[in-house]
Formats: sequence, C-alpha cells, structure tokens
Amino acid sequence: MTDVDVANLPAFPFIGPDNNPFIPVQESDTARLGGPIGKVRLPFGGWAWLVTRHEDVRQLLRHPGFSSDQYKPGFPVLNPIPQKREDASGLFIFMDGDAHSRFRRMLTAEFMIKNIRRIEPLIEETVVEALERMRAMGPPADLMSEFALPVPSMTICHLLGIPYSEHDFFQNHSRVIMDRNAGPAEVEAALGALAGLIGKVIEYKRNAPEEDLLSRLVAERVVPGELREDELVSLAMLLLVAGHETTANMIGLSALALLEHPEQLDALRADPGLAPGMVEELLRFGTVVRTGLPRLAMKDAEIGGQLIREGEGVVAMLSMANRDASVFHDPELFDPARREAHRHMAFGFGLHQCIGQPLARAELRIALVELARRFPDLRSETTLATVPKRHLAVTFGLGELPVSW
Ligand code: HEM
Repeated sequence: MTDVDVANLPAFPFIGPDNNPFIPVQESDTARLGGPIGKVRLPFGGWAWLVTRHEDVRQLLRHPGFSSDQYKPGFPVLNPIPQKREDASGLFIFMDGDAHSRFRRMLTAEFMIKNIRRIEPLIEETVVEALERMRAMGPPADLMSEFALPVPSMTICHLLGIPYSEHDFFQNHSRVIMDRNAGPAEVEAALGALAGLIGKVIEYKRNAPEEDLLSRLVAERVVPGELREDELVSLAMLLLVAGHETTANMIGLSALALLEHPEQLDALRADPGLAPGMVEELLRFGTVVRTGLPRLAMKDAEIGGQLIREGEGVVAMLSMANRDASVFHDPELFDPARREAHRHMAFGFGLHQCIGQPLARAELRIALVELARRFPDLRSETTLATVPKRHLAVTFGLGELPVSW
C-alpha cells in the first residue's frame, strides 16, 4: 500500500447537518473528499476509498475482485466486529465466491415475491396486532418499541415456522438482541438461547414437517446431507439479525418522513395503492445502511477510473449513490411520485444484494398502510432535530419516535 497521511483525511462515518435524519452527509465532508472517489479515515484505524457515485457503486458491488470477508487482514472495519465464532458457519453475508453462492442458492426461491405473497396475511395479522396493542396502551407511545421493532422479528418467527407456544420466548430474546442498551454478555446469552430454540425446532421439524422455511430446508437440504444442522441454525440467525434492525429502522424512519409530510400520509390513507411507489422513495430517501458496504480489494481493479490496489479497503456509499443527481432528479426532495425511485440501492447491488427485499417491501407496505388507516389523527411528538438518532450503528435509525393520536 502507498503511504497515506491518514490523520488528515476526513473522518468517517459522516453525520449529516442540523441533526436532520434525512440528510446523510454535510457539504463540507463531500468537499473534503475531493471527488466522487476519495479517501477517508476509518473509525477503528486505517483508511479506505469511499465510492459515492451511483454508477461507480454498481461497478464495485458487481466486481468479483472484492471480498466481503470482514475477518481478512486489512478489511475496512466500520463497526466493532465480534470475535469469529465457531458456530457462525452459515453467515454467508461475509463469504465470497462458491461458499457464498452455495448458501444463497438455497434461499433464493424462498424469498421470491410469489412465496412472500403467501405469508402476507401473517404479516398483516402481526402489524394489526402490534398497532392495536399500541392503541390499547393509549397515547403517547413510542412507535419504535411498540410497533417498528416487534413487527420484523415476529414476521421472521412466522417465516421460520417457530411454533406458536415458543413465540414469546422468541420475541423476548429477539428484543434483547436488538436492545440498544443491553450489554454484550446479555446479548450473547440471548443469541445462545435463540440458537438453542432454533436447534430444537429443527429437530422437531425433521419428524413433523410443516409449511415453513425451516421444515423445507430440513427436508430438502439437511436430510439429503447438503446442509449441516449447525449451518442451518446460523443461517436462520442471519435472517433474524439482517432482517430485523434494517426493517425496523425503515418502518420508524418512514413513519417520521410521512408525519413530516402529512399530505402524503393523507394520500396514502385515501389510496393504499400508492404504497409500493412510496416505499421505494422512502427506501431511497432513508437509506438505513448509511455507513455503506465495506469491501477489500483482492487484486488491483479500476472503479470509476480510480485504480484500487490489492489490499486496499473500499466502502460503497449507498446513501450518497441514492442522492446522485445524474440518476435522481432533485435528489434532496422527498417525492413519492418520482418515477426513477426504483433505481435506488438501499438493498445494495450485485452479488450480495439483499435477499430479503421482497419481504422487507411487503412489511413496509403493510405497516405504513395500516398505520395510516388505523390512526387517522396520528401526530409526531418530536422534531427532526431532537428525535434521538443512531448515527454510528450498523443501520441508521431513530432511538425512539414519540407519537400521539
Ligand atoms: C428495509 C430493510 C432492509 C434493508 C435496507 C436491507 C439492506 C441490505 C443490504 C444493503 C444488503 C447487502 C449487504 C452487502 O452487500 O454486504 C443486504 C443483504 C442481506 N439481507 Fe437485507 N435488508 C433489509 C431487509 C432484510 C430482510 C427482511 C431480510 C431477511 C429476512 C434480509 C436478509 C439479508 C441477507 C441474508 C443478506 C445477505 C445477502 C448475501 O450476502 O448474499 N434483509 N440487506
């Protein structure tokens, strides 16, 4: 690697101006980058290239010469990473090449739109239950803890086929894993408890298969010897963790965006058919994976005309790509009618593009439509500047969202 004056590089991750949750980057940070691909100082030492243009991010994320394995020496670390665990054998989000595609292939059909349609009634039930519980508790309420956080974990619970009798156990431990105030030991214990439960459920499904993801993977992959049981346990845990905080933060941020644009909330209430387009614009505008996607160059490569040398780190800056004016007209504007919204990269792009996106879209659509319909007088009890944010977490979001009705 060439000598780099790391101390003088702009500090990454960025925090937007005025504590506004909908502006990901300050103009001064963009200026200091000195171009669409620039060097930044990483929070845990070292530096990386930041790739910010829509086209360059696409080029980077479909390039096979970059690794997602965060345990490789030199990998650009954006968040503290836990020690490599023996039982993490199915975490394919951090794998490359054949190891990655072996797992991904097993899940592709499961997350296809037509299969997600089948569980929509269960998502609907989950959403309505959470909203009616929130209503029964009376205003004011924290929309994050009462609605946005429980809906995704309950949805995964249904998808995996966790038996009804274990729902409370699953929910309680999921809540600890996602609890921003829980200590590492507590989180570790909750992860262990959930892995134990999933292991037990897998054993049960061997003998009594049902219409759910774990039953199908046991019958089609574990029994023929294609997938080990410990791999299936960690695969299920990956789905829980990857699909929880991301979706929850998007539900919370979307609710806030609509409360800030009451005319859009009214429009959605009057015509739920607007939801799919609105969700695309909310995904673009919110981009909760705001610190971007880190990669390590395994050989020299050129991205957007910039030579990236083997061993150098790169970050695909999804939030800036989603504000690229060459793709999105007037990109700082929240415009649910925008025709090009679907070109956003909130779900990444290329080899690791989010496999759960049809599910996330269904959850968001149903959550927002029911929220608008059931709470015609919903109002925010906070302001953009004062609502607590989680700037430096893996996924950006709101710490809480106080609402009344
Ligand atoms: C709004 C909600 C969501 C957002 C914004 C989101 C975002 C992302 C992004 C940006 C990636 C790419 C990671 C990379 O390239 O390194 C990703 C991958 C992934 N997501 Fe999501 N996600 C969401 C919901 C979900 C849901 C609901 C699930 C499943 C239940 C899920 C499961 C996964 C998995 C398994 C991967 C790894 C794919 C691979 O490595 O091939 N996500 N997600």
